[in-house]
Amino acid sequence: MKYYIVTYGCQMNVHESEKLAAICEKMGYECAENKEEADLIIFNTCAIREGAEDRVFGNVGALKRMKKEKPNLIIAVCGCMTQKQTTAELMLRRFPFVDIVIGTFNLPNFAAYVEAVKAGRRQLELYEEGDIDETIPYKRTSGENAWVNIMQGCNNFCTYCIVPYVRGREKSRKEENILKEIREIVAEKKYKQITLLGQNVNSYGKDLNPQVSFAKLLKDICAIEGDFKLWFMTSHPKDLTDEVIDVIAKEDKILKDIHLPAQSGNNRILKAMNRVYTREKYLSIIEKIREKIPNCRITSDFIVGFPTETEEEFEDTMSLVEQVKYDSIFAFMYSPREGTVASKMADQIPLETKKKRVNALLALEKKIQKQEGKR
Ligand code: SAH
Ligand code: SF4
Ligand code: F3S
Repeated sequence: MKYYIVTYGCQMNVHESEKLAAICEKMGYECAENKEEADLIIFNTCAIREGAEDRVFGNVGALKRMKKEKPNLIIAVCGCMTQKQTTAELMLRRFPFVDIVIGTFNLPNFAAYVEAVKAGRRQLELYEEGDIDETIPYKRTSGENAWVNIMQGCNNFCTYCIVPYVRGREKSRKEENILKEIREIVAEKKYKQITLLGQNVNSYGKDLNPQVSFAKLLKDICAIEGDFKLWFMTSHPKDLTDEVIDVIAKEDKILKDIHLPAQSGNNRILKAMNRVYTREKYLSIIEKIREKIPNCRITSDFIVGFPTETEEEFEDTMSLVEQVKYDSIFAFMYSPREGTVASKMADQIPLETKKKRVNALLALEKKIQKQEGKR
């Protein structure tokens, strides 16, 4: 019996697929090379933009014939997209050949769902919240990099974003558990890099009792003896403290590479996005990083065409990119997500305008990289 996992979305999902892989192997399944030779196919989905969801619907739908030819094939859909009740129900209704539909918090029970399907029952189950699971190991699949989850969820509720709704509130793992996992990774001597994961790593530990700061966690990890590089993502600008910048500057093990999503260069839009910082505050953080960590790589994410964004306001994003001269950026067209504040705002921007803006931003980035001789 073989399993095959299709993963969409961010590194968090990539890492969770490593957990799914471990669960499958514990059940006695082996890893398949492709969908065709699999007896169990899992789609680990992402809900961040409409395009991501459309791809999942397309690719799950395409399995109809395979299931007809191979009735014992088990098809499961999990992750952020199906954490939403309406989408989960739609998935079951539209694709009667899908056997398991679960959300992000149901993952630890995955083996039980597969057993139930084998006993003849289709499964739809969504938990509203869940504790961080420390019981299931990971089957690491990312080569020389080992992902380590340090927290789950998000409290920020940026008005465009679905993540807080599908991943719940911020919950940090206990520091001792993280350090234990990293000591084990280092002892294996198979990995050159360790990447810490969280939607907003800078708010790590605020929910722990006693609280532990992200800066302390970084220092304690660097104190572990061994030959490894440490990286993390994602940093929210509002929580990036001077202490964290100092630790990155001081610790040789930490990569000098910060992903610091700005989203927009315009203060009215940043406020409407609920990002809780201004362009000026953001630039002051960049300045601090440049001063304390010379040659630090800095990258960012931007959203263009947020509802009500005018041409002038978009120009502020262009000028921010021009000013910071990033090593690399991701630029996304705003995609309305059901249930979020921004999706209900008047003056949604037409697709044509969003396309024009995203192309202009990417062209500017290309020009800057050429001038700066960057990648
Ligand atoms: N927690 C991270 C972001 C995770 S989502 C952070 O706050 O930086 C990754 C990126 O997707 C975001 O930085 C944002 O640029 C983009 N994104 C999120 N929601 C979006 C939406 N509704 N439409 C378009 N892009 C979006
Ligand atoms: Fe989404 Fe904002 Fe949380 Fe990032 S910080 S996951 S963009 S709500
Ligand atoms: Fe997508 Fe969920 Fe990550 S919505 S970006 S897979 S947290």
